[in-house]
Amino acid sequence: MLIINTRAELRATLGAARGRGERIGFVPTMGALHEGHLALVRQAGHQCQLTVASIFVNPAQFNNAQDLAAYPRDADADAALLRAAGCHVLFLPSVAEMYPYPSATTLRFGPLEEVLEGAHRPGHFAGVGLVVSKLLHLVAPDLAWFGQKDLQQVAVIRQLVRDLEFGTELVIAPTVRETDGLAMSSRNRRLTASERGVAPLLYQALTATRTALLRGASVADATALGHEILTNEPRFRPEYLEVVDAHTLQALPSAAPLPPTETAVVIAAWLGEVRLIDNVLVGPALA
Ligand code: PAJ
Repeated sequence: MLIINTRAELRATLGAARGRGERIGFVPTMGALHEGHLALVRQAGHQCQLTVASIFVNPAQFNNAQDLAAYPRDADADAALLRAAGCHVLFLPSVAEMYPYPSATTLRFGPLEEVLEGAHRPGHFAGVGLVVSKLLHLVAPDLAWFGQKDLQQVAVIRQLVRDLEFGTELVIAPTVRETDGLAMSSRNRRLTASERGVAPLLYQALTATRTALLRGASVADATALGHEILTNEPRFRPEYLEVVDAHTLQALPSAAPLPPTETAVVIAAWLGEVRLIDNVLVGPALA
């Protein structure tokens, strides 16, 4: 596996691969890699000749300086995991390499960023949009992988790629979970042992809400059930638990039963110092 730190070297290497007619698959990450990330890398390996991953903890998408400082970083361990998963090129730029001068372009995503993560983390999706735009231009992949774990990010990037004619096909991969249901996340490393013990309640709140919806409960009744599970554990500080359209992320009316459109149950909660998010689909996998 080649480790590349500069944009110039990345362009040169990938230009050569493209010249050889190789199909390029890309998995952007912020590192502290786990099986969720590695599943995306392996999928890319099945569908492309050249698998590229990036590790860049993007300051522009952190609205909380403490979260940015505490974000786990372990490039050596990550490189070993990527190599074992069959990655060919790791792009590992510095902040100065990605942002050589202050950026002035701001991407806005309308109603998509006014809800959920967008509402709780002002500026987050502008930062995600900016760095993903830069990375997609630098790598110019045929396919790029994103996880359903970050459902609203998927919706934002789908909109971005369509609006700005990036010639990249997006592949959305299902959420990889620990055996007790907790969605894998780099932030799980920051949980204490006892917080880690109760963390699966987040997934239990989601699945209880989904089951209630599938049994015909209204949105309000189903989410009340989910809330109850979470509030039984005082260390959780819930931010939201909502039933939304899986593509627009807009909330469904609370009196409504399950609609025919693709629906998701989404959740965010603080557990100690760590903010966790998760979601489940009610119905078929995302197309
Ligand atoms: P990061 O949180 O490192 O995640 C990188 C990719 O892995 C994202 O597409 C994310 O949805 C996916 N992922 C994370 N946990 C997963 C899990 N348990 N199962 C399946 N996929 C999972 O998301 C980002 O980084 C950044 O916002 C980024 C897109 C790299 C832009 O900076």
